Amino acid sequence: LITEVAIIGGGPSGLLLSQLLNRAGVATVILERSTRAHVLGRIRAGILEWGTVGLLREAGVGARMDREGIAHDGCVLSDEDLMVHVNFRALTGQQVMVYGQTEVTRDLYDAQDAQGTTILHEVTDVEIRDPERTGSHVEFTHEGRRKRLDCLYVAGCDGFHGVSRQTIPAQKRRDFERVYPFGWLGILAEVPPVHDELIYSNSRHGFALASMRNERLVRHYVQVPLSDRIEDWSDQRFWEEFSRRIPAEAAGRLVTGPSIEKSIAPLRSFVSEPLRWGNLFLVGDAAHIVPPTGAKGLNLAASDVFYLHGALTDAVKGRGTAGIDAYSARALARIWKAMRFSWQMTTMLHRFEGEDAFAERMRKATLAHLAQSETARREMAENYVGLPF
Ligand code: FAD
Ligand code: DHB
Repeated sequence: LITEVAIIGGGPSGLLLSQLLNRAGVATVILERSTRAHVLGRIRAGILEWGTVGLLREAGVGARMDREGIAHDGCVLSDEDLMVHVNFRALTGQQVMVYGQTEVTRDLYDAQDAQGTTILHEVTDVEIRDPERTGSHVEFTHEGRRKRLDCLYVAGCDGFHGVSRQTIPAQKRRDFERVYPFGWLGILAEVPPVHDELIYSNSRHGFALASMRNERLVRHYVQVPLSDRIEDWSDQRFWEEFSRRIPAEAAGRLVTGPSIEKSIAPLRSFVSEPLRWGNLFLVGDAAHIVPPTGAKGLNLAASDVFYLHGALTDAVKGRGTAGIDAYSARALARIWKAMRFSWQMTTMLHRFEGEDAFAERMRKATLAHLAQSETARREMAENYVGLPF
């Protein structure tokens, strides 16, 4: 097998990068560890920044998003019964789009199939060879046989647990990490939302998020201890806990129903620098993880792809390497600001086990200040809708 850019991982990063490269006339092959059904079955992010929306349109995958996605003008941050409305549109002129990662991924697979791109599923034991030298290639096992993919460049889009980052020698990279002492339990249920916008809720019982996919499908989360298991959480227990963590006004409108998906995700902040080793480039969760408060994970993957696709196109087409040389620094400058925002949102909204009364008052004061200060709301809005690429 031979291609111009080998892409490890068929999640949103790998698919979007491949789609944009193909449209610019660059050949790609995607190697994905899981089945397509498994990738499409994962319920993850739900909010797209307007920059991500624009990039998806540019990639030719915006049609269904524009039909079925719901543009939101703002969101609510709450502390017990205090509801602070942050009007993104009035404060920044921008909106965000409610459109699930599952749908984005499905649209990208459809578009890649239409392009005729080679996507190999259930690929195992991927090894990236000689990324520091010309003649880089990737070896992997597929359908019981060891195979080889020759390429000019490798894009590591294989998520936090992938091989790409691990391929870079430890002495060539620097990792930064914060692990939070709680996770998010999320459920998907076919009931109407409690409010027309998202509610990020601080309460004495811990954090809750009321999100949605459409007018008949909600995605709700509650903060849980890391020791909790899915089996500990019946649907009834979830709804009771969720209801006491959101403002009474919203809880009064709560309609419950059976969960159609339920999962627990740990919270982590992580960055590995730099994003390049020779011909290997890291993209998305392969290079960085944010806690979900602030909805930055998928959007950061999209901004990495934005920086990398033009740079790789120039390099492959013989228009110079300035773009790929600048990729790591350009992407990291934006990544660190999203790291700061999601860390701050997480700190502002979650109860930390064993915290003292001072920490609680700091959270309350932060939310009270947001309620009072348009300047504070504008700062939050500017980060939430997404900093410019
Ligand atoms: P991934 O989506 O992880 O895709 C990587 C792909 O590479 C996967 O398909 C994987 O199967 C494949 N792969 C892995 N290893 C290999 C290998 N060795 N060889 C070949 N292929 C490999 N963000 C939000 O904004 N809001 C949320 O609510 C939210 N919830 C999340 C919940 C969970 C459980 C997780 C894990 C993430 C969540 N995120 C959320 C983050 C967001 O989903 C990610 O930022 C986004 O998926 C990143 O896309 P990616 O393509 O870089 O990585
Ligand atoms: C969703 C997830 C988030 O992490 C977030 O900040 C907003 C919405 C969601 O899954 O809908």
